[in-house]
Amino acid sequence: MSALTIALPKGRLLNPALDVLDTLGYDMAEIRGGTRKLIVEDNKNHARFLLLKPFDVVTFVEYGAADVGIVGQDVLLEQESDVFEPLALPFGFCRIVLATRRERAQTNWRLATSLRLASKYPRITRKFFIERGWSAEIIPLHGSVEIAPALGLSDLLVDIVDTGRTLKENGLVEIETLCHSQAALIVNRASHALRFQEIGALIARLNQVIKEQGD
Ligand code: PRP
Repeated sequence: MSALTIALPKGRLLNPALDVLDTLGYDMAEIRGGTRKLIVEDNKNHARFLLLKPFDVVTFVEYGAADVGIVGQDVLLEQESDVFEPLALPFGFCRIVLATRRERAQTNWRLATSLRLASKYPRITRKFFIERGWSAEIIPLHGSVEIAPALGLSDLLVDIVDTGRTLKENGLVEIETLCHSQAALIVNRASHALRFQEIGALIARLNQVIKEQGD
């Protein structure tokens, strides 16, 4: 059988994901060394790792180009993809929040009209606004969303908050939390059936590591 293909997200979740995989005995040295390779083999463990943008991790796993992936629940919620999500992982904790400029903190947004909102999460945002009966034009961005209000691109934004520093340093305040997020293991549905023992063992080992770290 081919090597187990594990998709990893570049960015904030990469280092904690490498730590967990290290603990499981995988060889993460080449990735830690800053390789520019996007497929990294670990022949000893019959595995290979793909280094991808977080949103693409879900796509690779959904289509079976990777068997397994590590990604944030924020991305899963936004993509609404058909993947198996057997396990939440104990890192990457953050919130998705609605925010605005400090000067507009007291605005009654329910009564406001012709609002524009910038976000990397248009689907999550749209759902939240529909539930509230609010309306806004959603402007999709791919990053640095926090500069949109200051430049007049939007009145509001929806983005991830971890420490809160990015909001603060860009003169923004939170209005409301839409949802919480943390890292998760995802599995391609066909791989889960075809490599049941191998992937089941990986999930069991991960569960064990999480339990030991929690003790
Ligand atoms: C995320 C998010 C915020 C920031 C929040 O950006 O989009 O910008 O982290 O973190 P903080 O609350 O600890 O300041 P990321 O670094 O993932 O990059 P991005 O701007 O490309 O989205």
